[in-house]
Amino acid sequence: MDPQAKLETVASQFKEIIGHDAELPHVALVLGSGLGALAEEVEASMTIPFSDIEHFPVSSAPGHVGRFVLGKLGGVPIIVMQGRVHYYEGYDIPDVVLPMRLLAHLGVETFILTNACGGIQDGMRPGDLMLITDHIASFILSPLRGPNIDEWGVRFPDMTHVYDHKMQETIREAAKSVGIDLKEGVYLQVPGPAFETPAEVRAYKILGADVAGMSTAAEAIALHHFGARVAGISCVTNLAAGLGSRLLTSEEVNEVGERVSHKFAELIAETLKRMG
Ligand code: HPA
Repeated sequence: MDPQAKLETVASQFKEIIGHDAELPHVALVLGSGLGALAEEVEASMTIPFSDIEHFPVSSAPGHVGRFVLGKLGGVPIIVMQGRVHYYEGYDIPDVVLPMRLLAHLGVETFILTNACGGIQDGMRPGDLMLITDHIASFILSPLRGPNIDEWGVRFPDMTHVYDHKMQETIREAAKSVGIDLKEGVYLQVPGPAFETPAEVRAYKILGADVAGMSTAAEAIALHHFGARVAGISCVTNLAAGLGSRLLTSEEVNEVGERVSHKFAELIAETLKRMG
């Protein structure tokens, strides 16, 4: 099925589930590995397992539950994607970004993308949160590859401001007010599933990467193309390969993600409040 037909099919099922008159929140939050516990802090009014939607990609990654949670966080309406799919799971890149396009298609305007990542920037420590100011997606396939769908966006989108500057400022202010020392920097997406080698990490650092991860840049590209407002926050779950003394495991990634998910929820709730 072509991406546009798939989006229409998935959208009509989704509308059937939530009710044709139901209005979606203006803001969506996409949770990364180990950060699913953040969804527990949402006052949920409805949950929709991804598996209830035919043709919807369902995650096999550890730490990804795979459902939408509709509700309120800090009193503000939100739709949370608890779990996402990744390119390394074997999905084609249009399927990887289908959930984000679905929500944008249904009227969600603002997306806060979160992820677990390996820290590259000097001084980063596991548990740090980093505001994404830009990304490097040169090592992955573009989600815009293939015939352009003009209703979604232009063939050659400008990428100067993928991460909305006003949202960045709001997140900085929110972090300050809840006492979080928020780092900032460039997210580099790798295809995965292998973690990087130390030589790759040294190369990525020279290229200007502050963290490396396996999810967010592709989603940000698809959403920016679609005209949605995008913000990104990374959770540094480990130092990237060769920078720490330990070998990397997905268990450690999920453990650290779970440890910081309360702090993360506080930052998101304060950000939502400030967005008004
Ligand atoms: N590299 C890539 N992706 C990741 C990492 C990492 O070190 N940690 C968590 N996700």
